[in-house]
Amino acid sequence: MDLKLRGKRALVTGASRGIGRAIALSLADFKVDVAINFFRNRQAAEEVAREIEARGARALLLKGNVANEEHVARMFADIRAAWNGLDILVSNAASGVLKPVTELNLHHFHWTMDINAAALLPLVQQFLRLPARGPRAVVAVSSLGAVRAIPNYTAVGASKAALESMVRHLAAELAPQGVRINAVSAGTVETDALKHFPNREALVEESQRRTPAGRLVTPQDVANAVVFLCTDFASMIHGQTILVDGGYSILA
Ligand SMILES: NC(=O)c1ccc[n+]([C@@H]2O[C@H](COP(=O)([O-])OP(=O)(O)OC[C@H]3O[C@@H](n4cnc5c(N)ncnc54)[C@H](OP(=O)(O)O)[C@@H]3O)[C@@H](O)[C@H]2O)c1
Repeated sequence: MDLKLRGKRALVTGASRGIGRAIALSLADFKVDVAINFFRNRQAAEEVAREIEARGARALLLKGNVANEEHVARMFADIRAAWNGLDILVSNAASGVLKPVTELNLHHFHWTMDINAAALLPLVQQFLRLPARGPRAVVAVSSLGAVRAIPNYTAVGASKAALESMVRHLAAELAPQGVRINAVSAGTVETDALKHFPNREALVEESQRRTPAGRLVTPQDVANAVVFLCTDFASMIHGQTILVDGGYSILA
């Protein structure tokens, strides 16, 4: 399959593990060069870089906290120095405090909002300053908790709702500059992130049982939708959130 992505250059934030890793490798499968952002796990990110290069694409390792504007500026300076341009930005990195409302404080809330929502702003601003080889695509990774109530998920759910709203606002403002911005929202995916859920087993069991498609969403399912949104086949899709949940959210 030729998705006409060969030779494009992408940054995937939080690409050392889980869904970000699957997105980075899927882009590399289509010969996209990938800058891998990570924060703590250099070894895992180095492994992803090796896998990208084995697919015949270039890899660039970028350590940095996406919620820190200076880190983001440094990451983009490194991209400019190495590639002098960027065509695709995937804002995937996320974190957050999972607690009942009664235990959540404003520090938890702001910390979660900064990483999961606010970080999109400096990432996109820096992205716009780099040259591109054609139309540019931005994809943000969201979750069903943006629009549904999930136990312990108040801060993360609010941050994902803010993220999806930012996607719409940025998409409307930046479309005239040839930038398409969308989000992919996923149902439950078994990654390291789930280890932090106090109710992990119940969540996985319920997701599996209630999903019409009969199985959990995989990192590859999410990556497939992200890759599609990065292609010119999606050229008239702007400001949307595409759900990848096996039909979970269509049930009453
Ligand atoms: N898992 C799910 O059920 C699920 C469902 C829907 C949506 N999502 C979304 O999918 C995306 C990826 O989730 P995941 O499950 O793959 O998560 P994960 O396995 O916990 O991986 C998180 C990734 O983000 C990076 N990261 C965390 N904080 C960062 C920061 N401040 N700056 C830069 N990088 C940071 C981590 O880097 P290090 O390895 O260096 O720490 C890691 O690469 C997130 O946006 C998440 O909300 C997940």
